[in-house]
Amino acid sequence: MDNFNFHVTTDIRFGRDRLNELPEALNVYGKKVLMVYGGGSIKKNGLYEQLGKILTENGNKVYELSGVEPNPRIETVRKGVMVCKEKNIDVLLAVGGGSVIDCSKAIAGGVYVTGDLWSDYVEKRQYDGPALPIVTVVTLAATGSEMNNGGVISNLNTQQKLGIHGKALLPKVSFLDPSHTFSVPTYQTAAGSADILSHLMENYFNTTTGTEVQDGIAEGLMKTVIHYLPIALQTPDDYEARANLMWSSTLALNGLTGSGKHGCWSCHAMEHELSAFYDVTHGVGLAILTPRWMLHVLNEETMPKFVRFARNVWNVTEPDPQKAAKEGIQKLYEFFLSCDIPMTLPEIGIDSMKFKEMAKRAVHQNKIATDAFVPLQETDVLEIYEKSLNPIVF
Ligand code: NZQ
Ligand code: ZN
Repeated sequence: MDNFNFHVTTDIRFGRDRLNELPEALNVYGKKVLMVYGGGSIKKNGLYEQLGKILTENGNKVYELSGVEPNPRIETVRKGVMVCKEKNIDVLLAVGGGSVIDCSKAIAGGVYVTGDLWSDYVEKRQYDGPALPIVTVVTLAATGSEMNNGGVISNLNTQQKLGIHGKALLPKVSFLDPSHTFSVPTYQTAAGSADILSHLMENYFNTTTGTEVQDGIAEGLMKTVIHYLPIALQTPDDYEARANLMWSSTLALNGLTGSGKHGCWSCHAMEHELSAFYDVTHGVGLAILTPRWMLHVLNEETMPKFVRFARNVWNVTEPDPQKAAKEGIQKLYEFFLSCDIPMTLPEIGIDSMKFKEMAKRAVHQNKIATDAFVPLQETDVLEIYEKSLNPIVF
């Protein structure tokens, strides 16, 4: 296990009916709030109205930034920064999924950036400056953005989708009420869980040795998601299922399973190119790529980890290691299929036209060729994209 710091200070308020605590959480920072939200789901499910009442009663001066896109755009970040500067905002209230929270993070730091918000900030990937405080109300279990210091922003002009990290971008307080996710449509519920699983698998399939704590936790969380996702799809207002997915999502990417390990994530690097070029749903792109990536990197050296994954996560009992490893991958693929996730690229509108350019960027914008579970060159990425054009025959 590598050396690491674990200092994740987000104050989590988990459970039903906790929004009466919102004034106390916001008042620490001031009364002028920029409420950031997406395309309107919070108006349909009543959360917007509920928050409006709470903020009015608390005497907040509320400004709004609505319409944050899934795969949030740099233009929206620019808009938010402008409002914060003009209105002298004290605190950001991010109400939504990962896109809204990420956009809020980029705005929070962007307020202090001199220079261009893309080239002098997001493109730098690491931000060491200050940020406005962020309080989140999470409405979708997926990214874990509510308890980590990263945000992912897209620039459609340059066809880039890049993650930016900074200590100051960590949310101060996050409200996690599973009932706020009852209204998430099945497609987004499944995509969100595929993202949670991917975060766990990206950390799990790693070359750092002696990480039993991290791997054991990851296996437990993966099994939890695999158990509860079908229940949430069948019964969207099943509190227990939503609660377990929500907490898994936060724990999957708050450093718990990734600290003490090194190395770059491969499937995320490849998926961010799909989203950058085709604006697809992040979790769906990951679900499609992951089993192909697994088959591509499965070899004598990596086999023990795949066998462990098959046995501990998927209860595979096949004694032959090679067969067991493949059976684990097959179970993952079939699980995604059973959750109605489209499992080929053409199903989400992607053909092979831009594969070469995407493969080039995936390799050059990340360290997957040098520092990954199995290093991937452009030709490897290309092959994984090509294999994603057709269903897998096991
Ligand atoms: O925009 P609204 O109308 O709110 O609808 C959203 C959106 O269409 C809808 N939704 C969210 N909560 C809902 C709901 N619909 C009904 N009821 C609710 N309660 O779901 C759709 C998707 O929302 P989005 O926020 O885009 O999804 P997600 O949470 O999966 O976030 C995806 C973004 O996060 C990035 C992804 O790349 C992508 O840009 N990621 C962020 C990470 C991080 N900060 O740590 C890590 C991840 O790996 C990921 O890259
Ligand atoms: Zn992700």
